[in-house]
Amino acid sequence: STTPTILAIESSCDDTSAAVVVSGAVLSNVTASQAIHEAYGGVVPEHASRAHQRNIVPTVAVALQRAGVTAEDIDAVAFTRGPGLIGSLMVGVSFAKAFALARGIPLIEVDHMQAHVLAHFAEDPQPEFPFLCLTVSGGHTQLVLVHSALHQEIIGRTLDDAAGEAFDKSGKLLGLTYPAGPEIDRRAQRGQPSIAFARPDPGGLDFSFSGLKTSILYTLQKKVKEDPDFVAQHLDDICASIQHSIVSILLQKLQLAAEATGLTRVALAGGVSANSDLRLGLEALGQERGWTTFIPRLEYCTDNAAMIGVTARFKYAAGLFAEQDVAPAARF
Ligand code: KG4
Ligand code: ZN
Repeated sequence: STTPTILAIESSCDDTSAAVVVSGAVLSNVTASQAIHEAYGGVVPEHASRAHQRNIVPTVAVALQRAGVTAEDIDAVAFTRGPGLIGSLMVGVSFAKAFALARGIPLIEVDHMQAHVLAHFAEDPQPEFPFLCLTVSGGHTQLVLVHSALHQEIIGRTLDDAAGEAFDKSGKLLGLTYPAGPEIDRRAQRGQPSIAFARPDPGGLDFSFSGLKTSILYTLQKKVKEDPDFVAQHLDDICASIQHSIVSILLQKLQLAAEATGLTRVALAGGVSANSDLRLGLEALGQERGWTTFIPRLEYCTDNAAMIGVTARFKYAAGLFAEQDVAPAARF
């Protein structure tokens, strides 16, 4: 059919997500998160794949039910092929293959990073092509020149840690639970960015966060030597300072990329776009520069299957289908 009903599966990291998408609308988007990783200070791949294995069937069942459809109504199955944790991806890929085989319907493979960018097409307002997108997640930091849905050019990337990792690793230093991004964000609202950290710049449109991380570590070690209670007493200011540094780096590169490409449609994607300073900072910068800015709703910023379904819609229309022998790709 020309307006296919697509079941989409996302299982690249620690969230099991299923969505039902038809042309122009997300009918359901259901995500089961895995609390187990909090206790370990990071995602434990072995735990993640086991949890996906438990969650996948119930998550799909809820997604179908909320969309008001049954398995018989589905015209194609989309899944995240990569990048991600291989054991996690394997669960989603295997489920999608089995579903497609049982129903005799086509399979559509989706690149997780491409999908983060296309999350902007889950609902209005949708950016016109071409546009510039800063994709910031726990695993990736990319500046993408989006020529069209399926022609995305990466014009800048991180050379070491991702922006989300910079938040999470700094949080770990402070004894915060994983993932630390949201708590740093909450605390930063109550603090002042009073501590300056070094921000080594690799130049051009590329990012580097490992130097900032080292600077945070050494600065705090020095402060704690002078005052053992420093971290406990100044936690909100420390969080505000860390957040200010990371967000400043992101916005500075985004501004460079806008100048280099001449684009004035500027978008955010990925889990870190939930960050309140980044959202406000982009809006302020956009007003100053005359940009039209796009920030998806939170539900579509963090890992979700709706973005996989939306990407699959473009691939379905282009006749791009996967074979039954397709394998997940940890690095895409
Ligand atoms: O896109 P995402 O859900 O998963 C990946 O594909 O990585 O991004 C997760 C990342 C984590 O590093 C988390 O700490 C960060 O997004 N994050 C935030 C906020 N909410 C989530 N970072 C800063 N501020 C937030 N409010
Ligand atoms: Zn992601």
